[in-house]
Formats: sequence, structure tokens, C-alpha cells
Amino acid sequence: MNAFAGKRIVLGVTGGIAAYKAAELSRLLVKAGATVDVVLTQAGSEFVGAMTFQALTGRPVWQTLWNDRMSHGMAHIDLTRGAAAVLIAPATANVLAKLAHGVCDDLLSILCLARDCPLLVAPAMNRQMWEHPATQRNMALLSRDGVKILGPASGDQACGEVGEGRMLEAKTLFDELYTFFQPKSLAGKRVLLTAGPTFEPIDPVRGLTNSSSGKMGFALAQACAEAGATVTMIAGPVALPTPRNVQRVDVQTSAQMREAVLQNLPGQNVFIGVAAVADYRPKVVSTEKIKKNGEPMTLVLEATSDILGEIAARPDAPFCVGFAAESQNLETYAESKRKAKNLALVVGNLVQDGLGGETNRVTLFDATGAYPLPSAKKIIVARGIVAHLASLMEKLDGKPCGKPRANS
Ligand code: PMT
Repeated sequence: MNAFAGKRIVLGVTGGIAAYKAAELSRLLVKAGATVDVVLTQAGSEFVGAMTFQALTGRPVWQTLWNDRMSHGMAHIDLTRGAAAVLIAPATANVLAKLAHGVCDDLLSILCLARDCPLLVAPAMNRQMWEHPATQRNMALLSRDGVKILGPASGDQACGEVGEGRMLEAKTLFDELYTFFQPKSLAGKRVLLTAGPTFEPIDPVRGLTNSSSGKMGFALAQACAEAGATVTMIAGPVALPTPRNVQRVDVQTSAQMREAVLQNLPGQNVFIGVAAVADYRPKVVSTEKIKKNGEPMTLVLEATSDILGEIAARPDAPFCVGFAAESQNLETYAESKRKAKNLALVVGNLVQDGLGGETNRVTLFDATGAYPLPSAKKIIVARGIVAHLASLMEKLDGKPCGKPRANS
């Protein structure tokens, strides 16, 4: 994934044990196509040597104001010109205090003051230092100045104490930075989506379910959050981690999923049905474990409610997006679902392409035609769906489900 192609990141590394995570972060960024210029403070170099960063980034490491590597000796100015962002990770209490008060006493603090690009900081310190009113005052000042603060996390600390102040993991910082650069095409929008399978009990130990892993729905929740939406995800029984900035409600059955959707519906701008919701459930659920007796058994099923169909039919329906999982005739079935449920957009996929795996190949069906996206990891596909959805919403001027407004 060349998510950072063409972007130059100035990575400030200051004196904390979390500096070792900055080495991994620089590797991830370089792998994603970024050019990384590391600025290492004197204290930072006590934890990880310049040679490590030089080897990982393939570029010289900047440690002092006093060098002639820049043609006119102005590294404190030139390093940030044309940079996409400065990220300081780890950011100690000391560097945060300096940045909050405009203190300039080394290359990193001076270039932060002289920069013309965004600044992000990943605090890393002992929990008492983090909670100290002086640090909290400094963080408030930095926030007010538009500095983006990433973390800290809570947990075990190098000093042996437990609490808030740990630097976020390298992969989390990488994801945060990626999100930071994403166009905020769904800013101000509230998105409700369903994900994963449902589980319809037969008796206390058995049930009917399907092979949906939840990966497509979780990826779409992440992509919507990256695009600036406030996201609520109603998830069937899957053991996937919740994407950052996504509110998750866990359910088991289709009836619970419907209930949770209805409860969370007020105020939503978009509803996306990614879940593979059971179409049928046992008519009677045995309260005791059903005993085998060697005879054939008949299970009587009844239809479940069509959650998406019900939401799209409401007079106050949000912008509704459906998925169609088919094993053949994708275009015919997806189009007929779009029309039958009056959906603005249907994401069609063949089960052999998307069910359970890490990748998917989808075609987007809206009133103007069919738009195939290339096969890719689900998060990449999800970002493509979000881009199409956002532009479609804009074109339709937010009309629910693409229907004309009642008063237009
Ligand atoms: O979870 P993964 O392993 O990543 O797999 C992803 C996926 C293949 C499950 C996903 O991409 C997908 O296609 N989801 C929809 C699956 C589905 O149930 O499709 P459907 O054609 O049966 O349903 C059509 C639409 O109605 C869907 O938006 C579905 O969420 C919705 N529906 C269906 C039945 C029901 N009772 N209520 C619903 O809301």
C-alpha cells in the first residue's frame, strides 16, 4: 500500500524509552512510500542511535542546528518546507512544555516554531507527569494552537507503574497519521452500519449462522470514521477489534440487530447494511438441549424482518446503502435489490470474492450505472466505497435513498 507516496514526514524523536517505537514507525512510513526525515534530540539519541534511523529511512538524521548539510545552513527552516507534517513521537513532557511556550533551544523546537505544515505529537511519559496540572495546561495550549494530539494510551509503563502516559503503538500512530491525511468527505455526517453474521438459536447450544467474518463491515466502519463521520456499528458475533473512533454495539440475533438499529437510528444521515442478516430463523427455540433420537428432524423456520428494507421505507429514511452478496448473476440481482428496496447505492459482491477473506471485489450500483472497483484488501475497497458514497450524497444533495424530497 503506497498510502504515503509523495509525502515527506518530519519525525521528531525525543528522549523517552518509547523512542524504540519510533524506529518501527519510521519503517512503516517508509514502507508505505513516505520520505522520512528524522530529527533526533540529544536525549532521544540516548535511547536509539542515529544510525538506526538512518538505516531505516535511507536518509541522514538531523541532530543539530549547526551543520552545513543544507546549502545555506538553514535546516530549522528548510526541513519543514514542503513537508506534509511534523510528527513528534515520542513527545516528552519537556518538549511539549517547550512547544506550548514557544521555547526554541534546539533544532526540533525551532523547526516546530518555524514550520508551515501541521504538527502532531504523541505524548509519552510517566502517569504522574502526564496528570500533572502543568502538563495538562500545556496540552490545552497546544490543542488551542491547532496541534493534533495522538494518545497517550493507558497501561504498563517502563517505570513499573500503570496508568495513562504510554505512547501509542507504532501501527496505531501510522493509522492516525494516515487518517489525518484522508479527505474528510463525510465530515459532520453520522453513519449507522451493520456488520458480520447473525446467530439464530435453535436450542441453548445450537444455532443457525453464516460465514460472514465481519471484516468488510468493520473495514467500512473504519473508512467512514477516517472520512470524518461519527460512526455507530451494530456488530453480529465476531471477535474483531473495534476500529478506532467507532462506537460498537454487539448483538447476536437478527431481531437484536433490528432493535439496535432502530434504537440508534434517530439523527443518522447514512445507514449501510453490510451484515449478512439471517433471512430465516427457527420458529420455535427449544429452552432445553434437543436430544437426538436417530430419526430425521424437521426444523420449521420463519422469515426475519428485512432491516434494510424497513429503514429505507421510512418517510424519515437516511441515505440508505445496501450490500448484495450473490453467487451468480451479480448485476441482475444487485440491481433488482436496489430498485426493490429503493436504495441510493448497492454494493454488489460475489460470495466467492468477498465472504470471509481479507480481500473483496465489488461493483457499485447506483441510478447512473455500475462502477466496478478492483480486487483489493477490504480496507482499500471500503475507502473506494466511501469515496463513491460521499460524492453520490453530494450529487443527490443528501436526499434520503435518492428519493425526491417531499417538498420538492
Ligand atoms: O463479513 P465478510 O466475511 O467480510 O463478508 C462480507 C460480506 C460478503 C458479508 C458483505 O460484503 C456482504 O455482501 N454483505 C451483505 C450480505 C447479505 O446478506 O446480502 P443479501 O443480499 O442477503 O442482503 C441484501 C441487503 O439486505 C444487505 O445489505 C443486508 O445487510 C440486508 N438485509 C438482509 C436480510 C435481512 N433480514 N435484513 C437486512 O437488512
